[in-house]
Amino acid sequence: MLTKLLPSDVATAESTVDPDEVFLFPEEERLISNAVPKRRAEFGTVRWCARRAMGTLGVPAAPVVPGRRGVPQWDASLVGSMTHCAGYRGVALARASEFTAVGIDAEPNAPLPDGVLESIALPQELRRTRELARAVPEVAWDRLLFSMKEAVYKTWFPLTGQELDFTDALVTVDAGLETFRARLLPDPGWLSPDGPAAFSGRWSADDGVLLSAIAVPAARPAAAGARTARSAPPIHRAGSAC
Ligand SMILES: CC(C)(COP(=O)(O)OP(=O)(O)OC[C@H]1O[C@@H](n2cnc3c(N)ncnc32)[C@H](O)[C@@H]1OP(=O)(O)O)[C@@H](O)C(=O)NCCC(=O)NCCS
Repeated sequence: MLTKLLPSDVATAESTVDPDEVFLFPEEERLISNAVPKRRAEFGTVRWCARRAMGTLGVPAAPVVPGRRGVPQWDASLVGSMTHCAGYRGVALARASEFTAVGIDAEPNAPLPDGVLESIALPQELRRTRELARAVPEVAWDRLLFSMKEAVYKTWFPLTGQELDFTDALVTVDAGLETFRARLLPDPGWLSPDGPAAFSGRWSADDGVLLSAIAVPAARPAAAGARTARSAPPIHRAGSAC
């Protein structure tokens, strides 16, 4: 599901089950030793997916421990993002030489609890979400808006270390193309220069799961960029465990 939302040189791995072969490194095991089974399952399976994505990129399997505010700590040569919700775990991982950041989020395709949409949406987002809900009721557009904003945050925060409120990003959804754009609204003087002020992403609503995904390509001079892109070995996508 994730593969179709991201450029082909981003490695993805996902699972709808918690397989027996999941293993944890000691530093991961220590973090989760007192956790309830649900947390253990999502923590372990998403890291099993991360190891598969590392394999796809030709990187040795390594522990993924949370850093400041829960940001996953990758090898310096990588950027990535992890997500889990009921019945779904997913990872997107890329070479830092090719992508500045990646942010993904998964949510169940079910409406948000009462009152939540009003607290996360800007007035124009609220209007558009209600319009889409009337036109295409099979998609929980309110939950999808939430997911897109979480994907923006997961792209932004690891680059900048700066918190964002839900109303700091204006999200515009293209229902037909299954894409979205987000623009950060705070004063550019306040926003960190280390992150982008605008984001382009793709979304899907398949098999009961809403997915939002953003990949920010690395900026580089055109001529040098062409050489770098060709020098990277091709990626063979990890098969989905779904
Ligand atoms: C951090 C946050 C985005 C996680 O989202 P979530 O839907 O609760 O959880 P998901 O299952 O999708 O993702 C969890 C994974 O996100 C990653 N993550 C956690 N904190 C993160 C952060 N600050 N930045 C990037 N990734 C983070 C971790 O890999 C985590 O997995 P792990 O706990 O197994 O290590 C959410 O809890 C949060 O704080 N949101 C408020 C901020 C926000 O989204 N603002 C909107 C601005 S427009």
